[in-house]
Amino acid sequence: MDKIIIHGGRRLKGEVQVSGAKNSALPLLFATLLASGKHRVANVPHLRDINTVEKLLRILGADVVRENGSFAVDASEIRSVEAPYDLVRTMRASVLVLGPLLARLGHARVSLPGGCAIGARPIGLHLKGLEAMGAKIALDHGYVEARAKRLQGARIYFDLPTVGGTENLMMAAALAKGTTVLENAAREPEILELAEALNKMGARVEGAGSDTVVIEGVDELRPMDHAVMPDRIEAGTFMVAAAITRGDVLIAGVIPDHLEALISKLKEAGAEILEGERGLRVKGPRKIGSVNIKTNPHPGFPTDMQAQFMALMTLGAGTSIITENVFENRFMHVCELQRMGADIVIEGHTATVKGVKGLLGAPVMATDLRASASLILAGLAADNTTEVSRIYHLDRGYERIEDKLRGLGASIERVKEPM
Ligand code: EPU
Repeated sequence: MDKIIIHGGRRLKGEVQVSGAKNSALPLLFATLLASGKHRVANVPHLRDINTVEKLLRILGADVVRENGSFAVDASEIRSVEAPYDLVRTMRASVLVLGPLLARLGHARVSLPGGCAIGARPIGLHLKGLEAMGAKIALDHGYVEARAKRLQGARIYFDLPTVGGTENLMMAAALAKGTTVLENAAREPEILELAEALNKMGARVEGAGSDTVVIEGVDELRPMDHAVMPDRIEAGTFMVAAAITRGDVLIAGVIPDHLEALISKLKEAGAEILEGERGLRVKGPRKIGSVNIKTNPHPGFPTDMQAQFMALMTLGAGTSIITENVFENRFMHVCELQRMGADIVIEGHTATVKGVKGLLGAPVMATDLRASASLILAGLAADNTTEVSRIYHLDRGYERIEDKLRGLGASIERVKEPM
């Protein structure tokens, strides 16, 4: 298994290009199941999760040709309607095949994802919405079996804004009979992008990006030609990398509107952030200010940036209170940061981070995608050497992160660990 070795203490400088957004590419690739014909999805990042989607699309019968960052998907003939456990287990987003398969073929069988490192992460809201649209849902040996002759438009209120639930139901509703209204919908930029792509396919989706999305069902959709937007979380991670190393980095391609909460918190912590035509330039502060954050659904502070921001706060000049409101168990990076000398106390959903003078390099282990990123960031700022193992999590969501950081002057390498 690979690990990453970092010799910390170097200020990052230069320019880094943001890759296509993982969490946008996933639903877009699944949306290709909604229409026959040849879709083209460009600017798809090279990641382990994307390999999983490719595998799943092939299992379902789609013809997938991948060339550099571009996917040509022809889902004219669907052979299977089952997303097997082995794939759903490695990537929960596989449940996003439910909406498209049910809408187009009237039948889908998807393994229940179960828990994951960051919490229980149920899909009850996806299922409740599909039932409201007329689907019959049964649980069978760990699988969700959903059937519907034709889904019917419905008014659906989400008890909490779920990103995947909103996406699944938007895709299902695109081919339903009549109008679907999703209330208390998630407002993440990925939802807006999916709506844009669906509309290119001939769907009628309005209001995406607000808490009410209205989808007027159509009888048939056509293939899409779409390029995935830049990854706001990858961009945010590089912004924190600039701040924590007191560096000066131009993050090219980032869309600042997607990161307002993070930008404002980084400024509060003393970073200088300049918006230019090509992206955001982040200059790290000499003294890192301690600021409080609370994660919340978009446009709140993203839970996917909590671990990375906490790494920055370990070196703050005072005390920072970090509250995780989206997932129940997203503090697994804390023990590892503590092993590097961080002073963090957790109580329930809140972490109290007292800034320390410096972090000390140590062997650490990643437990989920964003936790891995936070350990890399801590390693960049720590004294001596940090070894991050179990980095397969990192490869799920960051494209060539070590190359990109090396390009900014970091001393970082990937080595093979003996099996
Ligand atoms: N929830 C329910 N019932 C449901 C669905 C969700 O209770 O039926 C709860 C979840 O347990 C969680 C909250 O609602 O507490 C929000 O979950 P959501 O459904 O919004 O999350 P998701 O769609 O499973 C996506 C991203 C995550 C990101 C979250 C929140 C993708 C593929 N994943 O997950 O990304 O953290 O939204 O923004 O888009 C990551 O990239 O590292 C990552 C985990």
